[in-house]
Amino acid sequence: IKKVTTHQLQEMKNRGEKIAMLTAYDYSMARILDGAGIDVLLVGDSASNVMAGNETTLPITLDQMIYHASSVVKAVERAFVVVDIPFGSYQGNSSEALRSAIRIMKESGAHAVKMEGGSEIKESVIRILSAGVPVMGHLGLTPQSIYKFGTYTVRAREEEEAQKLLEDAKLLEECGCFSIVLEKIPADLAKKVAEAVSIPIIGIGAGADVDGQVLVMQDMLGITKEFKPRFLRRYADLYTVVTDAVSHYIEDVKAKDFPNQEEKY
Ligand code: KIV
Ligand code: NA
Repeated sequence: IKKVTTHQLQEMKNRGEKIAMLTAYDYSMARILDGAGIDVLLVGDSASNVMAGNETTLPITLDQMIYHASSVVKAVERAFVVVDIPFGSYQGNSSEALRSAIRIMKESGAHAVKMEGGSEIKESVIRILSAGVPVMGHLGLTPQSIYKFGTYTVRAREEEEAQKLLEDAKLLEECGCFSIVLEKIPADLAKKVAEAVSIPIIGIGAGADVDGQVLVMQDMLGITKEFKPRFLRRYADLYTVVTDAVSHYIEDVKAKDFPNQEEKY
Protein backbone atom coordinates (compact mmCIF):
# COMPACT_ATOMS: atom_id res chain seq x y z
CA ILE A 1 0.00 0.00 0.00
CA LYS A 2 1.28 3.44 -0.96
CA LYS A 3 1.38 5.76 2.04
CA VAL A 4 -0.17 9.23 1.85
CA THR A 5 2.41 12.05 2.06
CA THR A 6 2.30 15.85 2.23
CA HIS A 7 3.48 15.80 -1.37
CA GLN A 8 0.50 13.69 -2.42
CA LEU A 9 -1.93 15.92 -0.51
CA GLN A 10 -0.53 18.90 -2.45
CA GLU A 11 -0.96 17.02 -5.72
CA MET A 12 -4.55 16.23 -4.79
CA LYS A 13 -5.25 19.95 -4.44
CA ASN A 14 -3.46 20.68 -7.71
CA ARG A 15 -5.62 18.24 -9.66
CA GLY A 16 -8.83 19.09 -7.79
CA GLU A 17 -9.21 15.78 -5.94
CA LYS A 18 -10.83 16.36 -2.54
CA ILE A 19 -9.04 15.20 0.63
CA ALA A 20 -11.05 13.12 3.13
CA MET A 21 -9.96 13.46 6.76
CA LEU A 22 -11.46 12.16 10.02
CA THR A 23 -10.36 12.16 13.62
CA ALA A 24 -9.16 8.97 15.34
CA TYR A 25 -7.94 8.37 18.86
CA ASP A 26 -7.54 4.61 19.24
CA TYR A 27 -6.12 1.56 17.49
CA SER A 28 -9.32 -0.37 16.69
CA MET A 29 -11.16 2.54 15.06
CA ALA A 30 -8.06 3.82 13.26
CA ARG A 31 -7.70 0.38 11.64
CA ILE A 32 -11.24 0.56 10.29
CA LEU A 33 -10.89 4.13 9.01
CA ASP A 34 -7.51 3.44 7.41
CA GLY A 35 -8.81 0.24 5.82
CA ALA A 36 -11.77 2.16 4.40
CA GLY A 37 -9.32 4.44 2.59
CA ILE A 38 -9.30 7.68 4.59
CA ASP A 39 -6.53 10.04 3.37
CA VAL A 40 -5.69 11.80 6.64
CA LEU A 41 -6.31 10.81 10.26
CA LEU A 42 -6.26 13.61 12.81
CA VAL A 43 -5.49 12.70 16.40
CA GLY A 44 -7.45 15.75 17.50
CA ASP A 45 -7.42 17.30 20.93
CA SER A 46 -11.20 16.76 20.58
CA ALA A 47 -10.17 13.53 22.34
CA SER A 48 -10.53 15.71 25.43
CA ASN A 49 -14.28 15.93 24.68
CA VAL A 50 -15.20 12.64 23.03
CA MET A 51 -12.76 10.29 24.75
CA ALA A 52 -12.21 11.89 28.17
CA GLY A 53 -15.58 13.63 28.67
CA ASN A 54 -14.20 17.12 29.31
CA GLU A 55 -16.26 20.16 28.38
CA THR A 56 -13.39 21.76 26.42
CA THR A 57 -10.15 20.74 24.73
CA LEU A 58 -8.05 22.62 27.29
CA PRO A 59 -7.43 19.89 29.91
CA ILE A 60 -5.87 17.23 27.65
CA THR A 61 -2.13 16.82 28.23
CA LEU A 62 0.80 16.23 25.89
CA ASP A 63 1.29 12.76 27.40
CA GLN A 64 -2.36 11.90 26.74
CA MET A 65 -2.12 13.12 23.14
CA ILE A 66 0.99 10.98 22.64
CA TYR A 67 -0.87 7.94 24.05
CA HIS A 68 -3.75 8.44 21.58
CA ALA A 69 -1.36 9.17 18.69
CA SER A 70 0.81 6.09 19.23
CA SER A 71 -2.32 3.91 19.30
CA VAL A 72 -3.48 5.37 15.98
CA VAL A 73 -0.06 5.17 14.31
CA LYS A 74 0.19 1.43 15.05
CA ALA A 75 -3.10 0.83 13.21
CA VAL A 76 -2.32 2.78 10.06
CA GLU A 77 -0.95 1.38 6.80
CA ARG A 78 -1.85 4.16 4.38
CA ALA A 79 -3.27 7.30 5.99
CA PHE A 80 -1.23 10.41 6.87
CA VAL A 81 -1.40 10.93 10.66
CA VAL A 82 -1.57 14.46 12.08
CA VAL A 83 -1.55 15.18 15.83
CA ASP A 84 -2.85 18.28 17.63
CA ILE A 85 -0.33 19.92 19.95
CA PRO A 86 -2.49 20.47 23.04
CA PHE A 87 -3.24 23.74 24.81
CA GLY A 88 -0.36 24.95 26.96
CA SER A 89 2.33 23.04 25.05
CA TYR A 90 3.27 25.65 22.44
CA GLN A 91 1.62 29.04 22.93
CA GLY A 92 4.03 31.88 23.48
CA ASN A 93 7.20 29.82 23.74
CA SER A 94 8.80 28.51 20.58
CA SER A 95 11.37 26.30 22.31
CA GLU A 96 8.62 24.60 24.30
CA ALA A 97 6.64 24.28 21.05
CA LEU A 98 9.57 22.59 19.36
CA ARG A 99 10.08 20.28 22.34
CA SER A 100 6.38 19.30 22.28
CA ALA A 101 6.42 18.64 18.52
CA ILE A 102 9.56 16.52 18.81
CA ARG A 103 8.08 14.48 21.66
CA ILE A 104 4.96 13.80 19.57
CA MET A 105 6.98 12.75 16.52
CA LYS A 106 9.48 10.63 18.49
CA GLU A 107 7.15 8.94 20.95
CA SER A 108 4.13 8.32 18.71
CA GLY A 109 5.59 7.93 15.24
CA ALA A 110 3.06 10.39 13.78
CA HIS A 111 3.73 12.23 10.52
CA ALA A 112 2.84 15.87 11.34
CA VAL A 113 1.49 18.21 14.01
CA LYS A 114 -1.36 20.73 14.01
CA MET A 115 -1.50 24.03 15.90
CA GLU A 116 -4.21 26.67 16.37
CA GLY A 117 -3.59 30.29 15.41
CA GLY A 118 -1.85 32.55 12.91
CA SER A 119 0.56 35.44 13.50
CA GLU A 120 0.45 34.79 17.28
CA ILE A 121 2.26 31.46 16.89
CA LYS A 122 4.47 32.33 13.91
CA GLU A 123 7.78 31.78 15.73
CA SER A 124 6.72 28.37 17.01
CA VAL A 125 5.53 27.30 13.56
CA ILE A 126 8.81 28.35 11.92
CA ARG A 127 10.91 26.65 14.58
CA ILE A 128 9.03 23.34 14.30
CA LEU A 129 9.17 23.46 10.50
CA SER A 130 12.93 24.11 10.68
CA ALA A 131 13.28 20.85 12.56
CA GLY A 132 11.72 19.03 9.61
CA VAL A 133 8.31 18.45 11.19
CA PRO A 134 5.35 19.18 8.86
CA VAL A 135 2.85 21.63 10.40
CA MET A 136 -0.86 21.89 9.65
CA GLY A 137 -2.42 25.24 10.61
CA HIS A 138 -5.88 25.73 12.14
CA LEU A 139 -7.80 29.01 11.79
CA GLY A 140 -11.36 30.23 12.35
CA LEU A 141 -13.01 28.64 15.36
CA THR A 142 -10.04 27.52 17.44
CA PRO A 143 -11.42 25.64 20.47
CA GLN A 144 -8.27 26.13 22.57
CA SER A 145 -9.25 29.83 22.70
CA ILE A 146 -12.87 29.19 23.64
CA TYR A 147 -12.69 31.32 26.78
CA LYS A 148 -11.50 34.27 24.68
CA PHE A 149 -14.36 33.82 22.16
CA GLY A 150 -16.99 32.94 24.76
CA THR A 151 -19.07 30.87 22.32
CA TYR A 152 -18.74 28.15 19.67
CA THR A 153 -20.61 30.20 17.02
CA VAL A 154 -19.41 30.92 13.48
CA ARG A 155 -16.16 32.96 13.33
CA ALA A 156 -14.95 35.70 10.96
CA ARG A 157 -18.36 37.02 9.94
CA GLU A 158 -17.06 40.59 10.40
CA GLU A 159 -14.73 42.09 7.80
CA GLU A 160 -11.88 42.75 10.24
CA GLU A 161 -11.69 39.18 11.51
CA ALA A 162 -12.13 37.82 7.97
CA GLN A 163 -9.22 39.96 6.76
CA LYS A 164 -6.98 38.76 9.60
CA LEU A 165 -7.89 35.15 8.85
CA LEU A 166 -6.95 35.58 5.18
CA GLU A 167 -3.65 37.23 6.16
CA ASP A 168 -2.96 34.46 8.70
CA ALA A 169 -3.56 31.79 6.05
CA LYS A 170 -1.09 33.48 3.70
CA LEU A 171 1.40 33.81 6.56
CA LEU A 172 1.12 30.10 7.46
CA GLU A 173 1.68 29.22 3.81
CA GLU A 174 4.75 31.49 3.66
CA CYS A 175 6.13 29.90 6.84
CA GLY A 176 5.90 26.52 5.10
CA CYS A 177 2.80 24.83 6.55
CA PHE A 178 1.66 21.97 4.30
CA SER A 179 -2.08 22.50 4.91
CA ILE A 180 -4.58 24.50 6.98
CA VAL A 181 -7.84 23.53 8.71
CA LEU A 182 -10.59 26.17 8.60
CA GLU A 183 -13.24 25.61 11.25
CA LYS A 184 -16.74 27.12 11.26
CA ILE A 185 -16.39 30.20 9.06
CA PRO A 186 -18.57 31.53 6.20
CA ALA A 187 -18.26 29.41 3.03
CA ASP A 188 -17.44 32.48 0.91
CA LEU A 189 -14.44 33.32 3.09
CA ALA A 190 -13.21 29.71 3.06
CA LYS A 191 -13.43 29.71 -0.75
CA LYS A 192 -11.44 32.94 -0.88
CA VAL A 193 -8.73 31.44 1.35
CA ALA A 194 -8.55 28.21 -0.69
CA GLU A 195 -8.04 30.31 -3.82
CA ALA A 196 -5.55 32.70 -2.21
CA VAL A 197 -3.12 30.02 -1.01
CA SER A 198 -1.69 27.09 -2.92
CA ILE A 199 -1.58 24.61 0.00
CA PRO A 200 -4.61 22.33 0.70
CA ILE A 201 -7.37 23.87 2.83
CA ILE A 202 -9.39 21.37 4.87
CA GLY A 203 -12.78 22.58 6.07
CA ILE A 204 -15.12 21.74 8.93
CA GLY A 205 -18.24 23.86 8.77
CA ALA A 206 -16.52 25.90 6.04
CA GLY A 207 -18.56 24.92 2.98
CA ALA A 208 -17.72 22.92 -0.13
CA ASP A 209 -15.29 25.22 -1.93
CA VAL A 210 -12.19 24.03 -0.09
CA ASP A 211 -9.76 21.21 -0.83
CA GLY A 212 -10.98 18.66 1.70
CA GLN A 213 -13.27 17.98 4.64
CA VAL A 214 -12.77 16.82 8.22
CA LEU A 215 -15.28 15.64 10.82
CA VAL A 216 -14.99 14.23 14.31
CA MET A 217 -15.43 10.46 13.94
CA GLN A 218 -17.87 10.09 16.88
CA ASP A 219 -20.07 12.82 15.40
CA MET A 220 -20.27 11.48 11.84
CA LEU A 221 -20.87 7.91 13.09
CA GLY A 222 -23.69 9.07 15.36
CA ILE A 223 -22.01 7.98 18.59
CA THR A 224 -22.48 11.45 20.07
CA LYS A 225 -26.17 12.30 20.16
CA GLU A 226 -26.69 15.83 21.50
CA PHE A 227 -24.16 17.62 19.24
CA LYS A 228 -26.08 18.75 16.14
CA PRO A 229 -24.43 21.70 14.35
CA ARG A 230 -25.62 22.47 10.81
CA PHE A 231 -22.35 21.32 9.22
CA LEU A 232 -22.55 17.82 10.68
CA ARG A 233 -23.79 15.04 8.40
CA ARG A 234 -24.39 11.76 10.22
CA TYR A 235 -23.44 8.68 8.20
CA ALA A 236 -24.56 6.16 10.82
CA ASP A 237 -26.52 5.94 14.04
CA LEU A 238 -24.08 3.96 16.16
CA TYR A 239 -25.74 5.23 19.33
CA THR A 240 -28.82 3.18 18.42
CA VAL A 241 -26.83 0.27 16.99
CA VAL A 242 -24.81 -0.09 20.20
CA THR A 243 -27.82 0.44 22.48
CA ASP A 244 -29.76 -2.30 20.66
CA ALA A 245 -26.83 -4.72 20.71
CA VAL A 246 -26.14 -4.17 24.41
CA SER A 247 -29.84 -4.47 25.32
CA HIS A 248 -30.00 -7.73 23.42
CA TYR A 249 -26.90 -9.04 25.23
CA ILE A 250 -28.35 -8.10 28.63
CA GLU A 251 -31.61 -9.90 27.77
CA ASP A 252 -29.75 -13.02 26.68
CA VAL A 253 -27.63 -13.12 29.84
CA LYS A 254 -30.64 -12.61 32.12
CA ALA A 255 -32.65 -15.24 30.20
CA LYS A 256 -29.74 -17.71 30.49
CA ASP A 257 -29.74 -17.86 26.69
CA PHE A 258 -26.07 -16.81 26.50
CA PRO A 259 -23.81 -18.75 26.40
CA ASN A 260 -25.44 -21.74 24.70
CA GLN A 261 -24.16 -25.30 24.08
CA GLU A 262 -21.86 -24.30 21.20
CA GLU A 263 -20.48 -21.30 23.04
CA LYS A 264 -18.89 -23.25 25.89
CA TYR A 265 -15.83 -25.50 26.32
O1 KIV B 1 -9.55 18.29 17.47
C1 KIV B 1 -10.20 18.18 16.42
O2 KIV B 1 -11.03 17.26 16.25
C2 KIV B 1 -9.99 19.18 15.37
C3 KIV B 1 -10.85 19.12 14.15
C4 KIV B 1 -12.24 19.53 14.47
C5 KIV B 1 -10.28 19.89 13.03
O3 KIV B 1 -9.14 20.02 15.52
NA1 NA C 1 -8.30 20.19 17.59
